[in-house]
Amino acid sequence: MSSTPPFSILVEPAGLHFEQRPGLSLLQSALAQGIRLPNSCRNGACRTCMCKLVSGNVDYQIEWPGLTREEKQEGWILPCVAEARSDLVIEVPDAVDLKK
Ligand code: FES
Repeated sequence: MSSTPPFSILVEPAGLHFEQRPGLSLLQSALAQGIRLPNSCRNGACRTCMCKLVSGNVDYQIEWPGLTREEKQEGWILPCVAEARSDLVIEVPDAVDLKK
């Protein structure tokens, strides 16, 4: 897996791809490339976007994303306030390819 940008994100189980855009959240990057991930507040509070990180690393744009330490350890992330720091595989069963 690559550790230099641009990072590529694979969304399972649909097998959709998008790239982490500089300065954008994962959610914003996905939307900008025609992939809709579940979302609502877009500020890390409502947990609508919560999904499993299968592999890779993320950082958060805010100090206290609405996840418990246990949830983070289990691999849950909030894409609306997360940015990829490596190539990622995430699991989002409700992701929609808007380009189709
Ligand atoms: S959309 Fe609300 S926490 Fe991500």
